[in-house]
Amino acid sequence: KHTMIIDTDPGVDDALALMLAAYSPEIELLGLTTIFGNVSVEQATKNAGFLVSLMPKSVPVAQGAATPLVNDLHPYPDFVHGKNGFGDIAVAYPADFKPDPRSAAQFIVDQINARPGEVTLVPVGPLTNIALALHLDPSIKTKVKQVVIMGGAVYRGGNVSPAAEANIWNDVHAAQVVFAADWPIVMVGLDVTHQTVMPEARMNAACANSPKVGAFLAKICEFYANFYRNTAGFDGFCVHDPATVVQVLRPDLFGTQRGQIEVVTEGLALGKTLFGPAGFMYAEPGWGKRTNVEVCTTVDSEGVLKFIEDVIKTAP
Ligand code: BDR
Ligand code: CA
Repeated sequence: KHTMIIDTDPGVDDALALMLAAYSPEIELLGLTTIFGNVSVEQATKNAGFLVSLMPKSVPVAQGAATPLVNDLHPYPDFVHGKNGFGDIAVAYPADFKPDPRSAAQFIVDQINARPGEVTLVPVGPLTNIALALHLDPSIKTKVKQVVIMGGAVYRGGNVSPAAEANIWNDVHAAQVVFAADWPIVMVGLDVTHQTVMPEARMNAACANSPKVGAFLAKICEFYANFYRNTAGFDGFCVHDPATVVQVLRPDLFGTQRGQIEVVTEGLALGKTLFGPAGFMYAEPGWGKRTNVEVCTTVDSEGVLKFIEDVIKTAP
């Protein structure tokens, strides 16, 4: 089993990723931690509370950072995920939901220390909480099993600028701390998620016999798909965060390259994830120091979509 914590800013694709994790028998979810990004951190926590109410087993939700470490907060992208993060559909938030009293960073540190070598940390939002957890207890670097991140872009452009992917751009300093920590990272970025597009009809079909979970997902994905139709001309939506959960379960669906990632923290290329492949001798002395990041560069998109579909079909 994969023992997992997901750090999330739900978010439509976050919601799909969380349902995928909750209904995958091979995953044991220890809890969720929340972060600003697609919505405010308060809204992210509320949304996580609702998503837990759709899960087969309740898990704790610990609230995280409301703002980036250094830079100003960017406006929340309500044109992508809606004002409430769920495509502005009406949501029946559970009245009895109470977040864990700990901060996200503390929760992450506690869980990793309680199970050395076992925890897969899956950040699918800005990396602020993860940087704060490293600051709180640097020893988690050697105790985590792996950190599987949705974020960045190496061989292709970004989605918030020609350089940057949203999660990295939202807190560039935190992202740099996390990549530079020299712990085992798998990066699932736009190189693989942008070409992994779930057609709307296919999503609706997968959700059709799932009156609780599927009905909710189909509704929120409609809003998300409209955004992609209007901006990119896609039929469907990118499965960014879900692909990250799939990577943990089915690494064979991805091709990777190992090396060093550095994040651009100022200027026009703010948030760019620069990649230096292992073994390459660069003249610039900043490179060749680490090989801790396995970057996903190719993907069996059909395999990923099928995996997601098959799990969602099993949900109530
Ligand atoms: C990432 O940004 C957010 O909008 C999505 O939830 C995903 O985590 C994609 O760039
Ligand atoms: Ca996200």
